[in-house]
Amino acid sequence: MNASARSDAYASAFDRVRRRASDPETRVIATLLDEEPERLDRFTVQAAGLHVDIAKQRIAAGDLDELLTLARAAQLERQRDAMLEGECVNRSEHRAALHTVLRAPAGAADPRHMSGAIDEVAATLARMKELAESLRGGRWRGASGTRITDLVHVGIGGSRLGPQLACEALGARAHPAVRVHFLSNVDPDAWDRMRAALDAASTMVVIASKSWRTDETARNAAALRAWLLDGGVAPERLHLHLVAVTANVEAARAFGVPDRAILPFRDWVGGRFSLWSAIGFPVMVAIGAERFSCMLAGAHAMDLHFASAPLERNAPVLLALVSAWNRLALANSSEIVVPYCDALRSLPAHLQQLQMESNGKAVDIDGHPVGVATIPAVWGGVGTDAQHSYFQALHQGTVAHPVDFVVTIPARADPFARDRALIANAIAQGATLALGTTARRSGRTGSTDGGDALEVHRDLAGNRPSTTILVGELTPESFGALIALYEHKTAALGWLWRINSFDQWGVERGKQLAGAVERALGGEPSAGGSLDRSSRDLLERAANLLGARPSPAARDD
Ligand code: F6P
Repeated sequence: MNASARSDAYASAFDRVRRRASDPETRVIATLLDEEPERLDRFTVQAAGLHVDIAKQRIAAGDLDELLTLARAAQLERQRDAMLEGECVNRSEHRAALHTVLRAPAGAADPRHMSGAIDEVAATLARMKELAESLRGGRWRGASGTRITDLVHVGIGGSRLGPQLACEALGARAHPAVRVHFLSNVDPDAWDRMRAALDAASTMVVIASKSWRTDETARNAAALRAWLLDGGVAPERLHLHLVAVTANVEAARAFGVPDRAILPFRDWVGGRFSLWSAIGFPVMVAIGAERFSCMLAGAHAMDLHFASAPLERNAPVLLALVSAWNRLALANSSEIVVPYCDALRSLPAHLQQLQMESNGKAVDIDGHPVGVATIPAVWGGVGTDAQHSYFQALHQGTVAHPVDFVVTIPARADPFARDRALIANAIAQGATLALGTTARRSGRTGSTDGGDALEVHRDLAGNRPSTTILVGELTPESFGALIALYEHKTAALGWLWRINSFDQWGVERGKQLAGAVERALGGEPSAGGSLDRSSRDLLERAANLLGARPSPAARDD
């Protein structure tokens, strides 16, 4: 039987989980914590230096057993091994998904189905190192001999989110003389704001696009090239201000980037999994090659854990099982990520793309409807700010949204104990979501007879699930492990749902339609012919407003 074909064992395991999940109210977190003697042993796990605690999920030990049966019926271990060995797991794009090779140590064996991959990755890393160190050391000079002090990384989606997150997360160790900026938005305001503080003579533009076909990146790249030229960079020396990171080397050459400044990677690196590839070049510039290697080593440690830990002790697998359960049991429309660490403020955005672009699918790998709700909205924000924003709804709203608390231990003690406050708040919020207040559990209601009429308004129902990931100190290693943890969770969840986590056809379709609409806006009305009435009406109104604008020369500014 084809390994991907839906088996009877899978269908019946899924039905059993679904049946168990149909009465979640009977799983009371407080009771599970009190009454399951081995709960902390079974529901917490150590992985690559991280401590992952799912004990405050609304999942009983028996539920976890059934979820593990489902994981086995979904052949999760076989799917994992297929990915790690370079099989064509991204079947709709005919590609492997080999981001793990990018962080394998030098001298590791090639994946069974991708010979030469390890050497190729090592060669690119060496090139990245050479370029990064010459920028950091001030040896790479601009066209006029000026030292490069600013690097603008132009890229979008996976070609921006991961590197930006890593630069922020590890920014305390950033190089003082080369500042890194990220430009993704095609809105000219984004670049106008950024360029106000930049000088073309001392700016390096890194164009990061796997496909070199992404419209926003292409337009911003063109705008920055024009800015370099306008800023006095001689056309024949423009290449001194350009680096390209891409899987489409020909297109980068055609743009004018010389081979020595092209950092290639392969199509078997998915955009949202590409931080570890040459896409991470600005990270290497910021933190140096050695720390970049430590980040890779941390991710590799998580890869080893994922590849070898039994399913019941496998942190990414457990996180995937929790998500699958919550989607069935709670019908939750959100999964919320709250890092209690300012340096990880962009973690929710990165995990949003990683999980929603990967698992926002409605058909399975064989093209049949999945039959269950797949990924909910993934979002979040930094703690404690989030507590003063949407946590009210998490505590007392009508729908439970599971939260991932990501907790780091700051390296240095803060004289005002703000570091302790962060950790205390994270733990307190998880406990409050789980336990609520005692009023409801002791049976009091909103009745005003003799009681405190306001008490019911203060009451927190509790029994709201959360996971806590205790990262320890945020280092390149622990950061790498954390991101790899979520990458593997994402893939494991895809295999549980039997979907292809590595394609993104919905995004591709949106890109095509935007091109047609823009042509219509630009005076080719027939290009908008396939649009609905509402969109055609909007198009017409916007075209009129665009036409009524003053020409650039006539504007006051
Ligand atoms: O958002 C869709 C997407 O294809 C992502 O998967 C990718 O990270 C992003 O666009 C950018 O693509 P590219 O690196 O090819 O410019």
